Amino acid sequence: MEQNSFFKENTFDFNNKKITRNIINEKLENDGIVILTNFCDVNKQNHIRSEFKSMYKKMPKWAKLISKNSGYTIHYSPLVRYINKATKYCKISSTVFKEKILNNLRSKYLNNSRVLERMIYTVDKVSDEPITEWHIDLFPTGSKCLKFFLYLSDTDDKSGAFSYIPSMHSYIHLLHKKYDVKERTKRLFTYENIKKSLIDFSKSLELKSNKNEYNSLIKKIKLMDDHIINQDKYDNFFSIPAKAGTLIIFDAAGIHKGGIIQEGERHVIRSHFLEYPLKRALKSKNDLYLYLMNRLCKLKAFLKKEEVLF
Ligand SMILES: [Fe+2]
Repeated sequence: MEQNSFFKENTFDFNNKKITRNIINEKLENDGIVILTNFCDVNKQNHIRSEFKSMYKKMPKWAKLISKNSGYTIHYSPLVRYINKATKYCKISSTVFKEKILNNLRSKYLNNSRVLERMIYTVDKVSDEPITEWHIDLFPTGSKCLKFFLYLSDTDDKSGAFSYIPSMHSYIHLLHKKYDVKERTKRLFTYENIKKSLIDFSKSLELKSNKNEYNSLIKKIKLMDDHIINQDKYDNFFSIPAKAGTLIIFDAAGIHKGGIIQEGERHVIRSHFLEYPLKRALKSKNDLYLYLMNRLCKLKAFLKKEEVLF
């Protein structure tokens, strides 16, 4: 099968110290995705899996288990875990994305104002249904969201590989700003709706005589649609098969999906980092509480030299 060339250009070996932050930042900015192979060694992968395995047997009150027809999800907020003084749990997994290079990337991408919203561990098993349909992640505030998605099992097109359509995220951010909350849920909800919104947007570029930008977007929409026959059928052109330990970092405004599992299981841990400026925090009591608690607990952990990430 034809391989999308962007995967090669956006994939870096995490052990290669010659890679500069600037290249990774630039790729993420332009395409909305970068892939870091060898991010997490087998020992660490096993630790993370066993941390969640023991939680699965006896769920602490600050974490949540969601059972599905074909697998399960465990999620928790690292901030709530810290407030509950439960730091003996998830020692490895809660700080797996604490690497300096990732910190720099998050700060740059989310304009120095970020909050780690949650850690999510998912186990998906054989099913006729895809793990998720093509979608973008919608946030009522329109905030940017950066996701860190770590394969904890070898994953290919038969075991539910993650798929992503590169360089669409920046158009979706513009549409986010253009639409109000109600319009966003209507116009950016299914693959067909998203495609239609992008086509409408391209027409507005044509009207403004922005020929280059118009041609570029039309080309991208055509490439996307050539490989997606309908919402749940596609030819894996955009899928990312990779070894366990590979980290995929992506802007959640890009169009993405989880594949169908025909054999084996897919184990993934992921986290969501949200853009969280003070302006947003002032919108509601809950938002302000989260903002202040985040800052306060960060300071406390820093003074006590505790290993945390939130
Ligand atoms: Fe998503």
